Order: sequence, then structure tokens, then C-alpha cells
Amino acid sequence: METTKGGGAAKSDMKKVSQHEFGGEDAPLSISIIENMKEEYGLFVWPCSVILAEYVWQQRRRFSGARVVELGAGTSLPGLVAAKLGSHVTLTDDANRPEVLDNMGRVCELNGVDCKVVGLTWGVWDSSVFDLEPKFILGADVLYETTAFNDLFATVAYLLQNSPGSVFITTYHNRSGHHLIELLMAKWRLKCSKLLDGFSFMPPHKASALSGNIQLAEIVALD
Ligand SMILES: C[S@@+](CC[C@H](N)C(=O)[O-])C[C@H]1O[C@@H](n2cnc3c(N)ncnc32)[C@H](O)[C@@H]1O
Repeated sequence: METTKGGGAAKSDMKKVSQHEFGGEDAPLSISIIENMKEEYGLFVWPCSVILAEYVWQQRRRFSGARVVELGAGTSLPGLVAAKLGSHVTLTDDANRPEVLDNMGRVCELNGVDCKVVGLTWGVWDSSVFDLEPKFILGADVLYETTAFNDLFATVAYLLQNSPGSVFITTYHNRSGHHLIELLMAKWRLKCSKLLDGFSFMPPHKASALSGNIQLAEIVALD
């Protein structure tokens, strides 16, 4: 289904509702996402989000009843899957992007889930950060702009250290920033506890629609 905001809208204003299915042929879980036709940060379902959402689905036993925070959630597919699995989910994105936060509220309504939607800018310390004590922190395609890596890791490190036993699960394009990621993990006293090729667990029909060299990492605080 495709809709436009007003007649004769430019492509950048056009929205569609995309369907995302989990669980094979029975497809016991289906999520609807409102996204822009234009590939715009925060208003488009990026491949990293499809891969992280599939991982959450496949790891669903871990998520039932857990507190989950999604950072840079944008269209929020992984967080919505977690919410459908019974997690208590807070979806967050840049506090300066009301259009993204508004869309997050709309997708929650569309899917009948009761997530909190909170403006959380990486590296900014306001009350919204201190109240979160997640077991899982999710982040799909949040490691794309190297100038933001330090702020992102500052927020992740705070959340991990403030919530013992928690884990940051992130999917990212394996680009040249990998060395910086390793440096910043050491700086913020974090370690990688699991590293997977993002395509290694994807059902073939989903993998064939995606491209890129995407990795999934589970990151925890050093003891
Ligand atoms: C590439 S998009 C990924 C969106 C979504 N996770 C996905 O994979 O489809 C990056 C997201 O990070 C958010 N973001 C960028 N800089 C941010 C910051 N400094 N603080 C919080 N969110 C930020 C953007 O608004 C956007 O939603």
C-alpha cells in the first residue's frame, strides 16, 4: 500500500507501509512500518534493521519480559519485534528530530504495541538516559558516521555499566571505521562477546533482497 501526503507530492514526501514477516511460511509475526520512499535516515528501513530484527526474532526466548532500549531506532523494526515478543521497549532517536519521533509513535499505534518513545541524543545526559536500565540495547546502523561514534559509545557504556548483565546488540556495515570501533571499545571499557556475519542467520528469501557486508556484534561492559 502506498499513500502520499497531499496530491502531487514530491517523491521525498511519499510514504509507504512495508510489511515485515518473521517465522517462515506460517509467518506468526508481521510488522507494518511507515517509511519514506526516499532513503532518509530515520524514516527508511535500512538493511541493518532487517537483520537485527530477524536476530531478535530468532533469539526470542531471551527477549520475553526483558527491558529493551533501541538507540537511533528510526523506523524501529527491531524494537517492534521485541515488543511483540513481550519485551518492555523504549524506542529512542535524536531528540532534535521530531519527525522521526512522531513516526515512531505512529508505527507503535499501527502495530498495536505500547512502547515508550523518547528523544535520546547520543552523548547528551538528560533525565531520559538515567531512568533506563535495559537488559538489551539495540542499535541498527548506528555506526555509520565516524564523528558520532564516540558519543554513541559514551551512551552505550553508561547504559551497560548502569545495568549489570546488559548487552548492546548492534548491526553495522563493515567499513573502514572498524579500527575506530575497536579503539573506542577499549576507551569505554567494553568488549565484544559475539561477532557474526549478518547474513549467516538470515533466511535465504530475506538475504537475497539485501546487500552489503553487514556484521552483528554483541558488546558488553568489561568486568
Ligand atoms: C542510518 S539510520 C538507522 C535507522 C534505523 N535504526 C534503521 O536501521 O533503519 C541512523 C539513525 O540514527 C539516528 N541518529 C543519528 N545521529 C544521532 C544522535 N546523535 N543521537 C541519536 N540518534 C541519532 C538517526 O536519526 C537515524 O534514525
